[in-house]
Amino acid sequence: MDGREVVLFCANDYLGLADHPEVISRAAEAAQSSGFGAGSAPLISGHTQYHEKLREELAGFKSAESSLLFGSGYSANTGIIPALAGKDDVIFSDRLNHASIIDGCRLSGAKINIYGHNDHVQLKKLLSEKSRGENRLIVTEAVFSMDGDIAPLPEIIHAANTYGARLYIDEAHSTGVLGETGRGIFEHFKISPEHDVIQMGTLGKALGSYGAFAAGNTEYMELLINTVRTFIFSTALPPSVCAAALAALEILRHEPERLARLHENARMLRDGLKKIGCTITGGGTPIIPVIVGAAEEAVRLSDALSASGFYAPAIRPPSVPEGECRIRFTVSAAHAPSDIDALLEAMKKL
Ligand SMILES: Cc1ncc(COP(=O)(O)O)c(C=O)c1O
Repeated sequence: MDGREVVLFCANDYLGLADHPEVISRAAEAAQSSGFGAGSAPLISGHTQYHEKLREELAGFKSAESSLLFGSGYSANTGIIPALAGKDDVIFSDRLNHASIIDGCRLSGAKINIYGHNDHVQLKKLLSEKSRGENRLIVTEAVFSMDGDIAPLPEIIHAANTYGARLYIDEAHSTGVLGETGRGIFEHFKISPEHDVIQMGTLGKALGSYGAFAAGNTEYMELLINTVRTFIFSTALPPSVCAAALAALEILRHEPERLARLHENARMLRDGLKKIGCTITGGGTPIIPVIVGAAEEAVRLSDALSASGFYAPAIRPPSVPEGECRIRFTVSAAHAPSDIDALLEAMKKL
């Protein structure tokens, strides 16, 4: 940064795969053989063997019948949610859902009921108050991007089943992170994804590539192929981006020690920050936010960290509520224990 070396503690490259030699070389080979750009939308000619293979792998990875690729997580959320709910329907959305989910809900034209963060009791209450005739959709993140906590999936599924709602779950920060083999929140809770669930995930975070996907039953994927405007009217991902994601999935399978290192690093930073007396949120994930409060204070801490050789910017509204400004630390399997020790030493001084 500005000619200085700093250690990054804020990226979402949780497994350290973005610069893995195998990911890079597989992307380069694909670009050599198929060109860089896909050249058109998937339904025209943009869908190559790399896209098809990645779709197959992702469906298997998420224990789903089928999957579909999207240009980004933002475009997946803003495209899929309006395809699942329309103006006569009702969406139940967590208060802390990501901006792309909020925009997707707004674009749908559906009635939006916001429930308290991870408050499944309120979710059930809201579901019970609505008439049964409406098509209902529950939308939540699996791991909340700014708080690092995990959605109470068993309770949410119970609510969905009790009141006949479908579930759309954004696994941007849980794909490659949660569960014994990194498959996400369903593996974490040891639940198999049910028929009425659509799992969305991103390729640009733990999988070190770019883009996003949805996984679910064949019927839903057919519906999405035929109705999601951000899928139909947008250029397909570059083949090399798919090749990079395929390489990342293979590495995740063959190098389970990466996932173990990620969680060990997260535990080390979390325990260390607690010992110093920091107020942190979340738990059990590599997103470890230190709540500072006022925006100026958060910026002052971030600047001081940067001067000490660590980069983690202050997160302020509209990304987080007023008065809850924070430094959102994230750890990666690529951090050495000495990096974490050094950060803790700096935080202690500051
Ligand atoms: C929860 C969540 N969903 C969706 C997105 C958007 O994904 P993408 O960066 O691939 O557009 C992000 C962040 O980038 C996110 O944190």
